[in-house]
Amino acid sequence: MWISHLLLVALLLGYPAALWSGLPEPPAGTGEHASSWQPDPMHEYWDPATQHQPETRLVEGVFEGEACLECHDVVTPGIVKDWRESRHAQGERPVLCPACHGADHQKLIFPTPQTCGGCHPERLAQMNEEKKYGFPSHALAMERVVDSKHFADKPKAEVMACLQCHSVGSKCDSCHTRHRFDPAEARRPEACITCHSGPPHPDDESYFSSAHGQRYLQDGKNWSWKQPLKAGNYPAPTCAYCHMRHGNHQVADKAVWKFGIREINPRTAENIIKRKRWLETCRDCHPPETAADFFQRLDAERKESWRLLYRTENILKDLRGKGQLRPSASERPAYPMDLLARLMPRERIGFFEGQASAFYNVSAIERDYFELWYFSNLSAYKGMAHQAPQWAGSFHERMKASAHAIADRAKRLGEPDRNSIDLKPVWMEGEYTRFNREKN
Ligand code: HEC
Ligand code: HEC
Ligand code: HEC
Ligand code: HEC
Ligand code: HEC
Ligand code: HEC
Ligand code: HEC
Ligand code: HEC
Repeated sequence: MWISHLLLVALLLGYPAALWSGLPEPPAGTGEHASSWQPDPMHEYWDPATQHQPETRLVEGVFEGEACLECHDVVTPGIVKDWRESRHAQGERPVLCPACHGADHQKLIFPTPQTCGGCHPERLAQMNEEKKYGFPSHALAMERVVDSKHFADKPKAEVMACLQCHSVGSKCDSCHTRHRFDPAEARRPEACITCHSGPPHPDDESYFSSAHGQRYLQDGKNWSWKQPLKAGNYPAPTCAYCHMRHGNHQVADKAVWKFGIREINPRTAENIIKRKRWLETCRDCHPPETAADFFQRLDAERKESWRLLYRTENILKDLRGKGQLRPSASERPAYPMDLLARLMPRERIGFFEGQASAFYNVSAIERDYFELWYFSNLSAYKGMAHQAPQWAGSFHERMKASAHAIADRAKRLGEPDRNSIDLKPVWMEGEYTRFNREKN
């Protein structure tokens, strides 16, 4: 009897301990909030430099060169077919599988930009050069996403997609995909729009609404995509033609308005130099005056849009001053990653107060402003930037309507009966809130 008791005790004490020591350490996240989130298995593909785990594979052995093909012709025939058709498989000294993955099947690697840069140093250097222009850029995309407070705050299922798009800087197969690695693929707009689409960055939608995108849709299939992105080779520009001029692997050296979430001064010394680079790009096909006029219109549109945005921000700030933003920041759970917000709850309004990472868990009117600023405004901007004025116009209409609705709602918030509902329990507790508090 006592033996079985002893066994039970040993089991109770020992089993969890054994289980504990037997489990591998959970992999840590990266970035400023590394200790607050854990990567998913897929993360080793998106950020191989920091996340790849050389776990034990079924197959053991060190294989040189062509030996990999013997199995992989059968195991992954699609990959081998693509590779055989690629430039890497041609010539006297083909780039074989181990050049990118290593030769030891128990210690396989996934290539990082450094791996590719070993043979393509100029391309890697160009991408790294983006860093000197700051955010946003491809080179800093992964860092940028994991450092975002809302990335670490929110449940994993809601933020998984962030990493897939923001992996553009942590591996080189986003635009010319593996294992074909075909520059012709990367020159087409389809190579970019897997990531550059949707409400905050509708490059896809705005480009295809422009004369340039329409021209591509009409006869792009007849263009010779083998040719480099140089004047005379393409009748109308694609994303890469404009943003990666002459194939330069650097997308940040011309950006003036950038993402579009804050007002900037287009006439600083640095921005004037960037504008010159834009004008040279347009000059491949348009007279200089046409392009200059175009950028003047873009800046004027931005100025006008920001007038409307500031006006609306002021309405919100006024409501905050009067304590009429309900539920207020102190009536809703603080953002877990934001220590300051926990100690001193305050509604954040506009770019400089950090509203871009405080857009969920807010009152209805704050969310309305977020949608006006982050979706309609950014769409109007991209419409103008991408020579699609009609498309931009439809979002200007939407912006005006939202601004009007917000002003209207603000007036009604002042009416006494609206504030009498006790919202607190609904927001402070509940399954989602608890899950968020405990699991992140
Ligand atoms: C020029 C570099 C390069 C070469 C050569 C190369 N690969 Fe890859 N391979 C990659 C990249 C990049 C990835 C994607 C890794 C990632 O997502 O982080 C990859 C991924 C893979 C994967 C995982 C694919 C998946 O979708 O799960 C397999 C399997 C693979 N390669 C096999 C091979 C074989 C077999 C060869 C030789 C025929 C080969 N590779 C040659 C660059 C290369
Ligand atoms: C004896 C057959 C065999 C040989 C030889 C072989 N592989 Fe594999 N490889 C496999 C099998 C089976 C898998 C899938 C199961 C596993 O991961 O072990 C695989 C998986 C892979 C993966 C995918 C890993 C992942 O996480 O998605 C890569 C990359 C890869 N092999 C590269 C290579 C390279 C490079 C060589 C040559 C150095 C090679 N293989 C030689 C059979 C082989
Ligand atoms: C061992 C050296 C080596 C490595 C590693 C390597 N490449 Fe290459 N790559 C070459 C060579 C050689 C060529 C063909 C000659 C040339 O155009 O430079 C080539 C050509 C290319 C091309 C042009 C293909 C074409 O059809 O014109 C692309 C794109 C490319 N590589 C991308 C990559 C990427 C992305 C990686 C990393 C995942 C990579 N390479 C890793 C050596 C390498
Ligand atoms: C795998 C996803 C992905 C692909 C494919 C991709 N991008 Fe990006 N791109 C991003 C992300 C993510 C950012 C923003 C990164 C950040 O947060 O700093 C970005 C930023 C940019 C910027 C902004 C630079 C700035 O200063 O505002 C430009 C321009 C750009 N990309 C152009 C392109 C072009 C052109 C292509 C196609 C040839 C392309 N991208 C393909 C994900 C991608
Ligand atoms: C569909 C692809 C995609 C997804 C999913 C995505 N992003 Fe992005 N993100 C982009 C692109 C593209 C840009 C650059 C837009 C531009 O410059 O116009 C960007 C820009 C950003 C920026 C602004 C960079 C700056 O410095 O101004 C941040 C921060 C960001 N993303 C974080 C996130 C987070 C956090 C998530 C997940 C909740 C996420 N992204 C999901 C594609 C994506
Ligand atoms: C944003 C999309 C994008 C990303 C990310 C990207 N490329 Fe490219 N790549 C292109 C485009 C577009 C071309 C065709 C350029 C042209 O027409 O001259 C190209 C062409 C190439 C070529 C063949 C042309 C040449 O002569 O060099 C190589 C090699 C190459 N890329 C390597 C890389 C490497 C290495 C990385 C990662 C550091 C990378 N690429 C990441 C878009 C991209
Ligand atoms: C005719 C040239 C042209 C084409 C084609 C083009 N763009 Fe742009 N794009 C611009 C201009 C001009 C801006 C605004 C530049 C500024 O003042 O900041 C811009 C802005 C952007 C931005 C914001 C960051 C930045 O660099 O200013 C991104 C991201 C972007 N475009 C991506 C794309 C994508 C993806 C495509 C294809 C679907 C594309 N663009 C097609 C000219 C072009
Ligand atoms: C590779 C050539 C090429 C480049 C580079 C180029 N465009 Fe265009 N653009 C065209 C073509 C072709 C059309 C369509 C002309 C037509 O519809 O008659 C067009 C049309 C336009 C239109 C519409 C004009 C109209 O009459 O409806 C504007 C605006 C425009 N481009 C601005 C620009 C700007 C700004 C740049 C630089 C950021 C630029 N383009 C770069 C070829 C180019």
